[in-house]
Amino acid sequence: MMKKLIAGNWKMNGSRTQARALIADIVNNLSQEEAIVEKADILVCPPALYISDVRHALRGYPKIKIGAQDCSSEENGAHTGDLSAQMLEDSECAYVILGHSERRQNHGETNVIVAQKVARALKADLIPIVCIGETQEERDAGRAQEIVLSQLQGSLPDLESFHEVVIAYEPVWAIGTGKTASPQDAQEMHTLIRENLKDLVPKPEKTRILYGGSMKPENAKEILACKNIDGGLIGGASLKADQFLSIARAA
Ligand code: 13P
Repeated sequence: MMKKLIAGNWKMNGSRTQARALIADIVNNLSQEEAIVEKADILVCPPALYISDVRHALRGYPKIKIGAQDCSSEENGAHTGDLSAQMLEDSECAYVILGHSERRQNHGETNVIVAQKVARALKADLIPIVCIGETQEERDAGRAQEIVLSQLQGSLPDLESFHEVVIAYEPVWAIGTGKTASPQDAQEMHTLIRENLKDLVPKPEKTRILYGGSMKPENAKEILACKNIDGGLIGGASLKADQFLSIARAA
C-alpha cells in the first residue's frame, strides 16, 4: 500500500507570526509523536512569502515537506508578480499545488494552462498536486464524472517517462463548506480516476489520489480508509496543528 500523503493548504491565511507559530506547533507535536511521520508523509503549503520562514523552522526536521500553492506556466521572464517553478524548487519546495478550483475560478485557469504548469513543475523537479473536481451544479446535473475526467485528461501534459504526480479530487461544493463527499461517493470517484490514469501516466498504481473538501478530524478516518484514497488535501483544518495532526494520525 502507498504511504498516505497528508497535505495542508494554508491558502491566503495568517501573518508571518502566525505561520511561524503554526509550523512550530506542528514540529513540536511531531517530535513527540514520531510514529506519525513514519506512517504518513506530511506536507505544508504556506503562502509563498512565508515559505522561507517555514523552511527555517524545519531545519533539522526534513521529514515535513514544503509545497507552494501555484507556479507560473512560463519558465522565466516578463511575468510581473508570478513565481517560476524553478524559484520554488530553489526555495526548497518539494511540491506545488496546481489547478486548485480557487485558481480555476478566480484566475481563469483552464486545463491547458494547468497542464503547462504541471510540465514546468516536473521540469523543475517539483511534484505537482493537480486538483480536479466538479461544482454542485455539475453534480446536480449528473455530470460529475464527465467533468472530473475531462479535467484529469486535460490537466496533465504528455508524460512519457515516470514522474511523481499527485492528483487531488476536491469537489468544489465540499471546499470550505463543511459538506464532504460521502466515503462511498469519494471512493467511487477515486476508483474512476485510478482507472483512467492508466491512459495518462506511466505508473498509475504509484500515483497518489488525495481527497480534499472539508476534511477534519471527525471524518478523516472513514475517508482515508477507502480504497484508492491515498491521502488528504486539507484547507481550514490545516491551520490548527492539533486538527491537522489528528487527520495525519487517522492516516
Ligand atoms: P477545506 O478543507 O477548507 O474545505 O479546503 C479544502 C481545500 O481546498 C484544500 O485545497
